[in-house]
Amino acid sequence: MRNVANDAISFHSGYPDRELLPERLVRAALARAARGGAALSRPPAAGLPELQSWFAHELGASTPAGTTPPNPSDVVVLPGSQSGLSSIFSALAGRGQPLLMESPSYWGAILAAGQGGVRIVPVPSGPVGPDPAELARAFDESGARLFYAQPNYANPTGAQWSAERREQVLDVVRAKGAFLVEDDWAHDFGITSDPVPVASRDDSGHVVYLRSLTKSVSPSIRVAAVIARGRRGSASWRTGPPNRCT
Ligand SMILES: Cc1ncc(COP(=O)(O)O)c(C=O)c1O
Repeated sequence: MRNVANDAISFHSGYPDRELLPERLVRAALARAARGGAALSRPPAAGLPELQSWFAHELGASTPAGTTPPNPSDVVVLPGSQSGLSSIFSALAGRGQPLLMESPSYWGAILAAGQGGVRIVPVPSGPVGPDPAELARAFDESGARLFYAQPNYANPTGAQWSAERREQVLDVVRAKGAFLVEDDWAHDFGITSDPVPVASRDDSGHVVYLRSLTKSVSPSIRVAAVIARGRRGSASWRTGPPNRCT
């Protein structure tokens, strides 16, 4: 977690080589954006409506029948997901409060929790995800109401949760009246597998979904989003966990 000199290559960075980025498309999009009105106007606080729609549509496309897809208004556009991690940990856990974290985990998430004074409680995870019984026990013993995890292509292990494990973890999170903070940082990196977000199976506000484009567009164009669904008028991530007893 130390700063590195500008001429050093830090192996903990998750950014792909520049040759793998869609350079021509990015340059063309930047030129178009520079000519457009948005380049010089103040965007709405939740982000450009077109971006909100794009993120909502992407998650909606993997939402199964019977589950309500997200609305564009459920999306807040962020300057990279790192800033989202800090805000979510501070807003939903807070200083001195416990946060369950899949272990091993992303150094930036550990840093974000540390900066907010949030107490990390590690939950061991394996090639197909964390053990649901162990997760349930960790919720009970710590009193935590937040579980940070990367179900697809986890940094640093590359693990991907099995379909069965996704359902089991979601069941535990719902039963505990808690939130899963799903960090979908490498969504576009799938080669032989499909990165279906856990968030696509939840329309009850128990998954706070973070989707970043910085790895697949350009590290200097920081665009990410947090998507959190909650039925209108019911408790949601903006006000606290659904079954919180405070
Ligand atoms: C797991 C994970 N989450 C979040 C981030 C931060 O992404 P962003 O570039 O959107 O801030 C990274 C960056 O490497 C990451 O590896």
